[in-house]
Amino acid sequence: MLFDPRPKERIGDMFDRRREFKAILSGMEDYPITLIIGIRRVGKSSLLKATLNEYEGIGLYLDARRLYATGSGSISSSVMVDELQRIILGNGRFGFLRGISVERISLGGIQLRPRGMTFIDVLEFLNGLGEKTGKRVVLAFDEAQYLRFYGSKGGKDLLAAIAYAYDSLPNLAFVFTGSEVGLLHDFLGITEYSSPLYGRVYEEVEVKPFSRELSEAFLRRGFEEVGLDVPGGEIRKAVDELDGIPGWLVEFGFNYWKKGNFEEALQSTIAKARAMIREELRELERRSPRYSLILRALAMGLSSWSMIRDYLEAKGGPITNARLSQLLKSLEKMGWIKKENGAYEIIDPVVERVLRE
Ligand SMILES: Nc1ncnc2c1ncn2[C@@H]1O[C@H](COP(=O)(O)OP(=O)(O)OP(=O)(O)O)[C@@H](O)[C@H]1O
Ligand SMILES: [Mg+2]
Repeated sequence: MLFDPRPKERIGDMFDRRREFKAILSGMEDYPITLIIGIRRVGKSSLLKATLNEYEGIGLYLDARRLYATGSGSISSSVMVDELQRIILGNGRFGFLRGISVERISLGGIQLRPRGMTFIDVLEFLNGLGEKTGKRVVLAFDEAQYLRFYGSKGGKDLLAAIAYAYDSLPNLAFVFTGSEVGLLHDFLGITEYSSPLYGRVYEEVEVKPFSRELSEAFLRRGFEEVGLDVPGGEIRKAVDELDGIPGWLVEFGFNYWKKGNFEEALQSTIAKARAMIREELRELERRSPRYSLILRALAMGLSSWSMIRDYLEAKGGPITNARLSQLLKSLEKMGWIKKENGAYEIIDPVVERVLRE
């Protein structure tokens, strides 16, 4: 059912997304590292789960928020190892070990003992498992930006272990996704000299909001499934407000279906979307107040480089071209803005509306 509010787990339950699905699948098969990026509620977790479900190799799904919560705000190596053992011994969510008794197997002398293993031991074990079964093992981290709470060095030890796996454990691959795209890039640091993962090859799959046409088709299909006859005008109005973000479309559709009131369903969805955006804007402002100044400039229609710079200098003092360029690049990378024909614009119209208020 399209309006099921939880992440989907099967590609058959998802609307569209064949292209992204195939790209992630080939990332898992051909690349040591795959990144799935996209703005909040766009469908990253659903795509990751659905792809793992179809993946022919061995896929392990880890939610870094779960690790973070288990470790009460930090992720120790034993929290990570326990979670991996739990998933492997519990045969994953995806039944990848059909018929293999993991407790018994010893791979190159490494056993999945209940105690005393390090993260690297588990990676080596999984690499051995891959070798033995002739299948690639994919470790997929959802909400991976939380991995920066691993250990005491902002996750550097974990990145070093992953860099080691990249270089020496050919049967392993990693997938990372998360809603805070910028933090994810910062954390992995593939373009940072000082990061253990600097310069590694990776595949990046971007999940974008649906086009207007697809969004309307999505709602029509969803309402059809639940047997609700909804006028075209309401569908168009909902897409005007919510844009093509599947999570909001689902929430609106679900509310409408349950409560039977169009305005109420739309308004409560908009309110939730805005609250979430405000929180993200606050987080962004904490990272650099200039980020929000830039977004404000764009929301006011100041879209060229020089207009943005003038606004920033008026509000926050002098800024060098290099610094401005850096800030704009990272806003682009984080999925807040895009550049078209030399002008910058905010991608998500809901963000733009919130900034104007
Ligand atoms: N292609 C799709 N077809 C049907 N439902 C979808 C699709 N994509 C996303 N959804 C629905 O939208 C909601 C958000 O999806 P999901 O949790 O996968 O997004 P996300 O990008 O991981 O969100 P977050 O940024 O909050 O982690 C869920 O209810 C999910 O079922
Ligand atoms: Mg998610």
